Amino acid sequence: MLVLGIESSCDETGIALYDTDKGLIADTLYTQVELHAQYGGVVPELASRDHIRKLTPLIMQTLEEANVQRNELDGIAYTAGPGLIGALLTGTSVARSLAYALDIPAVGVHHMEGHLLAPMLEAEQPEFPFICLLISGGHSMIIRVDGIGQYKLLGETLDDAAGEAFDKTAKLLELGYPGGPKVSNLALKGTEGRYKFPRPMVDRPGLDMSFSGLKTYTRNTWLKAVSEDDATDQTKADICRAFEIAVADTLTIKCKRALEQEGLNRIVVAGGVSANREIRAKLDALMKKRRGETFYPRLEFCTDNGAMIAYAGAQRLLAGQCNDLNFAATPRWSLEDLIPIK
Ligand code: KG4
Ligand code: ZN
Repeated sequence: MLVLGIESSCDETGIALYDTDKGLIADTLYTQVELHAQYGGVVPELASRDHIRKLTPLIMQTLEEANVQRNELDGIAYTAGPGLIGALLTGTSVARSLAYALDIPAVGVHHMEGHLLAPMLEAEQPEFPFICLLISGGHSMIIRVDGIGQYKLLGETLDDAAGEAFDKTAKLLELGYPGGPKVSNLALKGTEGRYKFPRPMVDRPGLDMSFSGLKTYTRNTWLKAVSEDDATDQTKADICRAFEIAVADTLTIKCKRALEQEGLNRIVVAGGVSANREIRAKLDALMKKRRGETFYPRLEFCTDNGAMIAYAGAQRLLAGQCNDLNFAATPRWSLEDLIPIK
């Protein structure tokens, strides 16, 4: 089964072709980063307008480059939520219209299920069950995964998502957008130990997380440095280092707790923030000590992309699931509401 995947939930237009026999055969990404950079974050209306401009040419380009004719497609998978509603509607409309014109099924994919299943695009795939740490710009969740669509939310952030905390830290330190890679790159030049940031909520039981306090701690540390005439690039790097280590430590402590609670020793880390070097290093060290297994998507599939949507949609289409023509995009959608694939 050959499936066209369409991702347009935020600031990336992603198109891919996934064949359930041959695997991923094409993947194209157009990023709007430059468009939004001047505003310091994503402007939803501009995102929608740009998706509309790019979607059809990118689909045509992807098919052409893969030497695939439109009538060879067996199904279409598109991100139906969660995300920016205008942006979601662009992908939904294009996907549904194309499916109608070609008379093939279309399925609305949950964006976070796409992220969660992205490691399945790699040669070595995790077996079920596993713990998934799903960390992106809009979500931070710890999930027990027993199969596709069988998700139990064990913990989530009570305020900012991990990626959001990175983005806000970058904004405060005037590093630019998107903040995750900027903070992480500057952290490489930082001196470990100059600052020690708190590890939020680790001394409380449970698996919920909170990152807004860390953001405030960053602001106060920076303002103190400014008032002491120490607002240097080195201070910024030292703050980034302390911030990144605190986030990585906190997530690792929570993951260890989740594995112990569920009696599992396999972890999948996905979503934009899973590209982070320090988080990967700390989780790898934990899993090595436990003699467990860790799985990540390749770096370009950590952040938003069409391949993960094509993959997730293909699994659902293969299982006979598809949606009616009037299936709407939905900005809020719980992973726990998804239909399991038996
Ligand atoms: O999954 P994603 O592309 O979009 C959402 O679904 O939200 O995640 C984007 C988030 C942004 O907050 C970005 O700053 C963060 O992922 N990010 C990173 C890194 N690369 C991207 N955060 C920390 N370290 C990175 N290397
Ligand atoms: Zn995403």
